Amino acid sequence: MRTITFVTQKGGAGKTTLAASIAVAAAASGEKVVALDLDPQGSLWAWGESRAADEPAVDRLTAAQLAKLPAILASLEREGFTLAILDTAGVESTGGNLAMREAALCLIPARPTKLDIQATKPTVEALMRMEMRDRFAFVLNQCPPGRNSRSTEAAQGLSMLGVLATPTMTQRADHQDALASGLGVTEYAPDGKAADEVRALWQWIDRKTKGVPA
Ligand SMILES: Nc1ncnc2c1ncn2[C@@H]1O[C@H](COP(=O)(O)OP(=O)(O)OP(=O)(O)O)[C@@H](O)[C@H]1O
Ligand SMILES: [Mg+2]
Repeated sequence: MRTITFVTQKGGAGKTTLAASIAVAAAASGEKVVALDLDPQGSLWAWGESRAADEPAVDRLTAAQLAKLPAILASLEREGFTLAILDTAGVESTGGNLAMREAALCLIPARPTKLDIQATKPTVEALMRMEMRDRFAFVLNQCPPGRNSRSTEAAQGLSMLGVLATPTMTQRADHQDALASGLGVTEYAPDGKAADEVRALWQWIDRKTKGVPA
């Protein structure tokens, strides 16, 4: 089972939004997906509760369960899950560190602002301390639509700090409306641009975690 962890101490970067839509896109591509909410806020779990579809499975872990994350993931693998998507809280936490350690790939969403890019540094430093230099990538999220210098400069800035996943995610109402409807963007508006971007991001993550050159 591959584990993908969305992490960054910066609140509102898009961890939960992307975790939900990537979980749905991955399930549609044939993965047996479990999405786990490790954030006490419970947003991903609440989204899961509002869904009618059975897949992906969505659950949450309490603070006490977090300490047993490796054993929980091993048990999910035995149940037949092929992909675990972990959504973490926007603060430095033991649970967040454990979730990073367990990941084949950590994804760090960041908005295209100087403050957001600076705010990724504690997360990157934590990953470096864990010797996970090769197991993280940034996702530039909530970019203004169209070509613009803000997104280009942010992409350049992040590329200097580590690998930048492609494509970048544009700010689109579909993301907000999908989550509010208990859906992933690929379910909410399958022909929309947000859905295209999420499917392409899932393909990038899939290749990266299978060791296929990007
Ligand atoms: N690509 C996007 N386009 C439009 N809105 C987005 C996009 N990504 C995230 N958002 C919106 O930004 C807000 C914050 O996103 P989200 O809750 O996913 O961030 P988070 O990193 O999980 O925050 P927290 O640290 O509080 O858990 C939400 O209102 C969400 O709908
Ligand atoms: Mg969140």
